[in-house]
Amino acid sequence: MLQEIQKVKAMKVIVPPIKSQGIKTKLIPWIKDLTAIAHQKGKWIEPFLGTGVVAFNAGYKKAILNDTNPHIIGFYKGIQEGEILAPLMKKYLEEEGRLLSVADNNGYEHYLKVRSRFNSGEFSPYDFIFLSRAGFNGMMRFGSKGNWNIPFCKKPDRFAQAYITKITNQVAIVSQIIQPEPNWIFYNKSFSEIIPLATENDIIYCDPPYYGRHVDYYNSWTEKDEELLFNLLSETKAKFILSTWHHNDWRENEMINKFWKKFNIVTKDHFYHNGGSIENRRTVVEALVCNFDTNQIDEHNHGLKKKSKEQQLEIVWN
Ligand SMILES: C[S@@+](CC[C@H](N)C(=O)[O-])C[C@H]1O[C@@H](n2cnc3c(N)ncnc32)[C@H](O)[C@@H]1O
Repeated sequence: MLQEIQKVKAMKVIVPPIKSQGIKTKLIPWIKDLTAIAHQKGKWIEPFLGTGVVAFNAGYKKAILNDTNPHIIGFYKGIQEGEILAPLMKKYLEEEGRLLSVADNNGYEHYLKVRSRFNSGEFSPYDFIFLSRAGFNGMMRFGSKGNWNIPFCKKPDRFAQAYITKITNQVAIVSQIIQPEPNWIFYNKSFSEIIPLATENDIIYCDPPYYGRHVDYYNSWTEKDEELLFNLLSETKAKFILSTWHHNDWRENEMINKFWKKFNIVTKDHFYHNGGSIENRRTVVEALVCNFDTNQIDEHNHGLKKKSKEQQLEIVWN
């Protein structure tokens, strides 16, 4: 297993066990190019952690990771504290997968059972992974009472052995990457309490809910939030990279003009395969907004123009 983990870590983008519609897996090489340019030796600070995919690929030994969603933070803290283990996940998924495959209504009855168990307040991190992987289209969405409200993917055989192995390996890999406290610290707070923790040598990566796009219980996002984020990032002494959307076929993100245009902006076409509405499943021009010089990177789409040797995708491991 260890050899397998090392191979995966060396070769490709590390994919976390949690899924969500806003996951940045495909944008990792681009974000890493900019991280390399920023060349910060301090901490990786991520106030909107989501699935964790960016943090897991950033290569920092010291990190502050935060999300308002308690299930995400609870899951990764559980791994950090050794309470959630890959072999336990395997055993759990084998059992729940078996129950799903024989349940009435093509598995739906068992999905509903796990969902109500979770929503009743048990909030088991194992059930969280089950719901994340057996829910429709890999989406994560919580209703007005903080309840998981994604329907079933309608695949009673969802947890075939190969799929269980894949998830189990993902848990094992992130267990290797997550550093013990105080090197990696997880918080379940608002971003406004996290950004001020950054100091000059740190790098902040922000991926907030996109204004005017996704909304759910843990993802409400207003212009006031965007303004507060803008003010905090304008004041920070650290370097920052902000992910946002630039425009799509229908409209422009008015927040760019209102706030972000005073910083450096690079863009890239990105296709979102899953999302609640057709608009969210189309090509979006993604933007990365930075408070440092981005001259080495093409403004649109094509990564680094010319990299000096020490700036090539360096793993920092401070
Ligand atoms: C777009 S997602 C981040 C996706 C992540 N970069 C990934 O690739 O998986 C935004 C995240 O911000 C969290 N969030 C929403 N409002 C927040 C707030 N006020 N403070 C901190 N986190 C918040 C949401 O729970 C969600 O997980």
